[in-house]
Amino acid sequence: MTSITTAHPPIPVNTPLLDGNEARYLAECIETGWISAEGPFVTRFERDFAARVGRAHGMAVCNGSVAIDVAVAALGLGPGDEVILPTFTIISCAAAIVRAGATPVVVDADPVTWNMDTAHIAERITPRTRAIMVVHIYGLPTDMDPVLRLAKHHGLKIIEDAAESHGQTYRGRPCGSFGELSTFSFYSNKHVTTGEGGMILASDDALADRCRSLRNLCFLPRQRFVHEELGWNLRMTNLQAALGVAQLERLDEFIERKRRMGRLYTDLLSSVPGIQLPLPSTDYADNHYWVYGVVLDDDVPFDAIEAMRRLGQDGIGTRPFFWPMHEQPVFRTAGLFSGERHPVAERLARRGFYLPSGLALTEEQIATSAAALRGLLA
Ligand SMILES: Cc1ncc(COP(=O)(O)O)c(C=O)c1O
Repeated sequence: MTSITTAHPPIPVNTPLLDGNEARYLAECIETGWISAEGPFVTRFERDFAARVGRAHGMAVCNGSVAIDVAVAALGLGPGDEVILPTFTIISCAAAIVRAGATPVVVDADPVTWNMDTAHIAERITPRTRAIMVVHIYGLPTDMDPVLRLAKHHGLKIIEDAAESHGQTYRGRPCGSFGELSTFSFYSNKHVTTGEGGMILASDDALADRCRSLRNLCFLPRQRFVHEELGWNLRMTNLQAALGVAQLERLDEFIERKRRMGRLYTDLLSSVPGIQLPLPSTDYADNHYWVYGVVLDDDVPFDAIEAMRRLGQDGIGTRPFFWPMHEQPVFRTAGLFSGERHPVAERLARRGFYLPSGLALTEEQIATSAAALRGLLA
């Protein structure tokens, strides 16, 4: 093992802020014995999070990946169905479609916003298309108007993966309020964290009940331990929800904090040659900088892996960008995406990475991280 000595303590890519009511609410769980899934914090977190997004129903689950599995299953997507989604996303999105027996059909990314390029959705619609899975990437929402138009015209369902978009809005409307079902993650790098955790939001009562049943083993309401179909145990614990309630109380403050961090990074990096920075805003949203991503220009003589290795030697934590779905060995081996090329996503995967972005990051740490990147590109 090589040890790294830097002038400053290592700067982690993510550190959450847990200095509100988190400890108090957790202690309440221990004192009352409500530690499993059926507890008052779960109900409160579901209600408050759904209300924040303007949805009637929130169904808490144990992570954001299974939230997508539940959404796909609840909409009845399966063999013979095609679901359109961005190729530039996390595997959870495509995995849920494939596990359900449906076929993922991918669209390339927009080179500036890094979201699905909505101009290329229409050409991927076939008579078998049943749904579009929208994923908001790294802090800016997907341009929803074209998606909504296409979905309406072709009678398609929408699943909105808003895992990274707590409190973000599209033309003033909350992310997570679009489509039949939306999903969220509360992993420790999200604006609101429960350690591990997720949520599905719905407006329709029957669809919400379906999600509740699927996440809880499909117990029959009239006779527990009798099952007419198979579900999963994906429940969120009261302990996790206690964290979630405390975190949600501070969401506006957290959004403002991340926006300040994003602006500071941009101020410090905008004169550095050789990198593309996140877009501060579009005509439909201001970036809320879930993470602060950068993309190396083509004339920089090294790729993201090498940049991250060198920054790591300087004690700066980083993470690579997503690797496109159409280039995933697990899908290629299964015969999916044969011969497909999506050059924007392929380039983002090879040239993109993100800098320390956790809510506990200090201005000094941002300055140190930016200086290290500047030094790398000098
Ligand atoms: C867009 C997106 N969807 C889904 C997930 C999966 O969430 P989890 O890590 O909670 O399973 C993530 C995780 O970061 C994500 O970024």
